[in-house]
Amino acid sequence: MRVNAYAKINWSLRITGKRADGFHDLETLFQTISLHDTLTFEPSDRLKLTCDDPTIPVDKRNLVIRAAGNAKVAIALHKEIPAGGGLGGGSSDAAATLIALGNSSPEIALNLGSDVPFFLTGGTAYATGRGEILTPLPRVTGIPLLLLIPEERVSTARAFGMLRSFSPPLGIERYRTMIDDDLLSHATELINDFEEPIFAMLPSLRTLKTQLYEAGAAWAAMSGSGSTIVGAFRTAEDRDVAREHFKNVRAVAAETL
Ligand code: C5P
Repeated sequence: MRVNAYAKINWSLRITGKRADGFHDLETLFQTISLHDTLTFEPSDRLKLTCDDPTIPVDKRNLVIRAAGNAKVAIALHKEIPAGGGLGGGSSDAAATLIALGNSSPEIALNLGSDVPFFLTGGTAYATGRGEILTPLPRVTGIPLLLLIPEERVSTARAFGMLRSFSPPLGIERYRTMIDDDLLSHATELINDFEEPIFAMLPSLRTLKTQLYEAGAAWAAMSGSGSTIVGAFRTAEDRDVAREHFKNVRAVAAETL
């Protein structure tokens, strides 16, 4: 069996407070995008994971192994989504494994990671709590994206530790209104609280965001805790023209699903 594990971006990511359990409460608008890893499952005498990216661990550190539990399968993971890029690659691989092995309860997913429950359903979704209290919203499909994927990787735990200020939530109805209107025309409300601390540490990422706007993006922001900077465009032609401006960073075309 072969399944695709799609990446996500965050249209907005507001960290609303620190919790007693060490996690943070947040409010985000998740969005599935076309960039995807591929996992192939075959019967085997024991659990085995291989990956075509030698920098990705294939032992218990890999969420796919933890998601597979004691299933006797050989899993081949083809990576397209960069690790440590804020695109949810490891979480999506884990969710795809849960689904493929028929084990996809929200509780098991959350135990694997805060973003994993979202990937069980995907689409456009409003989330609160650690990211697991999910409400689907009308899907924002077919928006052309340019993903700028710098060499620098950001640890999610470290990014949370760098936060110095929180934002109030907007509430689901505000997002619904923005989607029904025209999400891209509400760029100033679609903020990411991780940008300030991460841009302070890695100023070149702020430059990439500025350059995306200069290149014609209708909206640009960091995804998750970085380091990917995403631009959304009105047309695929606009996006393809913009792509030519970025020679010194990996620039990947995608679209919202
Ligand atoms: O849930 P996940 O394993 O992706 O989280 C990685 C780390 O990020 C956590 O150990 C925690 O430090 C931080 N985190 C947080 N609040 C969240 C999600 C993650 O503080 N909602």
